[in-house]
Amino acid sequence: MRSEDYLPRLARIEDIAIETPTEKTFTLRLGEDDPGLHFNPGQFVEISVLGSGEAPFGLASDPAEHHAFQMTVRRYPSGVVTVPLHRMNVGDYLGMRGPLGNGFPLADCTGRDILIIAGGLGLPTLRAAIFYMLARRHQYGEITLLYGARTPQDRLYKETLREWTAAPDINCLQTVDVADESWDGNVGYVSALLEQLRLQGDNTSVFMCGPMVMIRPLTSILVDMGVAETSMYVNMEAHMKCGIGKCGHCLVKSKYVCTDGPVFTYDQVREMQAYHEAGH
Ligand SMILES: Cc1cc2nc3c(=O)[nH]c(=O)nc-3n(C[C@H](O)[C@H](O)[C@H](O)COP(=O)(O)OP(=O)(O)OC[C@H]3O[C@@H](n4cnc5c(N)ncnc54)[C@H](O)[C@@H]3O)c2cc1C
Ligand code: FES
Repeated sequence: MRSEDYLPRLARIEDIAIETPTEKTFTLRLGEDDPGLHFNPGQFVEISVLGSGEAPFGLASDPAEHHAFQMTVRRYPSGVVTVPLHRMNVGDYLGMRGPLGNGFPLADCTGRDILIIAGGLGLPTLRAAIFYMLARRHQYGEITLLYGARTPQDRLYKETLREWTAAPDINCLQTVDVADESWDGNVGYVSALLEQLRLQGDNTSVFMCGPMVMIRPLTSILVDMGVAETSMYVNMEAHMKCGIGKCGHCLVKSKYVCTDGPVFTYDQVREMQAYHEAGH
């Protein structure tokens, strides 16, 4: 086991961007003598707020940047970690362990069309995956992002979404459950956007992150479009403590979400969900 997996390193808060009323994006910088953070999109870090506790957060920034990284954090009412984290300021220090987990198999999907589907707070690690692929644009076929949020104001990274919508090298489609006067885009579920696409199912890899109530119906549509369950990758959430396969908190069936995942193929996710729902 690498020392960075269990020994927290100090990271300084360099910037805080308010995304929505409950979500902030923190840019953290490591010291110059730190070896840097070398991560695969889909991996996460364990962040400790000194005196409060530790929690896992997905890495949301460009993986080409090694000394600064971003994570987007939703504040939960009475959250032991997220409430004090949201009160912190630029210049404050946090502890960081990682990168942890496996990440998306982006290097194995070259030559294929890529469909990215994010719901709400599912966008952060997929944003890192998009940065990675856009930096190697010639290695991939069509790249499409479908992003669904509850309302226009609940969307993360509004500026980045504007840039991707205008960019020729990614097809970025957004939808909201409930529109307001600022919104003249799509209204409805992500599944309605998916049904409008013409996919070459057997040459498409799908990367997803979002609530299971969104993912499950999408996978049925994708199967009907000819995408194999083994070509659909889901970034899963689970209750975690150690993040390094030691405490057993995240064990589902025979898999540790923290070390075997958090990215699994959909056939694996389906088995794990069935096991969980059977009351194990
Ligand atoms: C691999 C992984 C990646 C993650 N990435 C992110 C990320 O990028 N951004 C992010 O904001 N969160 C992410 N999470 C979730 C995040 O770790 C939790 O929200 C966080 O641990 C909550 O900590 P807390 O101590 O503030 O809340 P707690 O004190 O543990 O809980 C406070 C209250 O909030 C509820 N709550 C806590 N977490 C959740 C949740 N996830 N969903 C619904 N209710 C919850 C609890 O049930 C409780 O009622 C990730 C989790 C995992 C496992
Ligand atoms: S969080 Fe401890 S084993 Fe996965």
